[in-house]
Amino acid sequence: MADGFDAAGQVAVVTGGGSGIGQALCRSLAQCGIRSVVVADRNIEAAQRVAAAINETCSSGPALALELDVAESRSVEAAVAKVEGEIGPIDLWCSNAGIHTGDGLGEASDWRMSLDVNLMGHVNAARAVIPRMARRGNGHFFVTASAAGLLTDFRSAPYAASKHAAVALAEWLSITHADDGVSISCVCPEGVRTGMTKPSSLKAGVSSNFLEPDDVAREIIEALRTRHFLVLPHPKVAEYEQRRAADRENWLDRMRAARRKLTQATPSAAAS
Ligand SMILES: NC(=O)c1ccc[n+]([C@@H]2O[C@H](COP(=O)([O-])OP(=O)(O)OC[C@H]3O[C@@H](n4cnc5c(N)ncnc54)[C@H](O)[C@@H]3O)[C@@H](O)[C@H]2O)c1
Repeated sequence: MADGFDAAGQVAVVTGGGSGIGQALCRSLAQCGIRSVVVADRNIEAAQRVAAAINETCSSGPALALELDVAESRSVEAAVAKVEGEIGPIDLWCSNAGIHTGDGLGEASDWRMSLDVNLMGHVNAARAVIPRMARRGNGHFFVTASAAGLLTDFRSAPYAASKHAAVALAEWLSITHADDGVSISCVCPEGVRTGMTKPSSLKAGVSSNFLEPDDVAREIIEALRTRHFLVLPHPKVAEYEQRRAADRENWLDRMRAARRKLTQATPSAAAS
């Protein structure tokens, strides 16, 4: 069984590290004394800005920027080989990159993009890095899913379905790899103040209780230390999940009412 994660002297990769929760996670890992944090993002300029800001405040200069598209298995495999070849074995992979393509049932392209990034991004990473961790008998693999993956976001079908799939994948990995010394965790936040929640319908969503990315990063690092699987930065999500399991009909009625309320408040948020 893997020990709890202690950042000192370790190598971590954070996908979607160029912004929002990933950026806060990179910063927090650097503050915890990580040897190297790879800020991996499709947006290389954003990753470079984050890495430079971390290195300015950290005398050991632990951050490096890396261009990566999590939706492309070859890009992920190349990133893993590059980091392990040039820096060292990856102790922690934070599979955090995600997208929200908009409200409603969505077009075929919304589904393709959502599944490619929000699900296959984690699958590509798991396939590339977990066998290496398992061979070493030690490693941590972290999935950023969403409360939408436990409770179903009524605004966006591709987002809700892809995040449900991400939670199921994380559970599968946790069950399958516990005996290999690889610990798996999964964070399911509600609203977090990032670039993703700028659109008005997301702002006016299920929760008015928005957190800052630094709050979420703190909870993630604590979960890695204790090897806890499910990270719920908004504690109410646990209660909602229990209500959903206990009485699905009643829960669906409540969600329908919440959707009606949102639709009346922001007509543009009505699902197509
Ligand atoms: N903000 C919220 O309210 C919230 C709530 C629950 C879950 N999440 C999840 O948190 C994660 C981070 O989102 P955020 O809120 O920080 O959003 P964000 O938009 O600020 O950051 C997402 C980052 O991922 C990168 N990215 C997108 N597609 C990529 C790809 N194919 N390959 C590599 N990088 C890619 C983007 O360039 C960006 O830097 C996502 O998985 C998101 O679904 C966010």
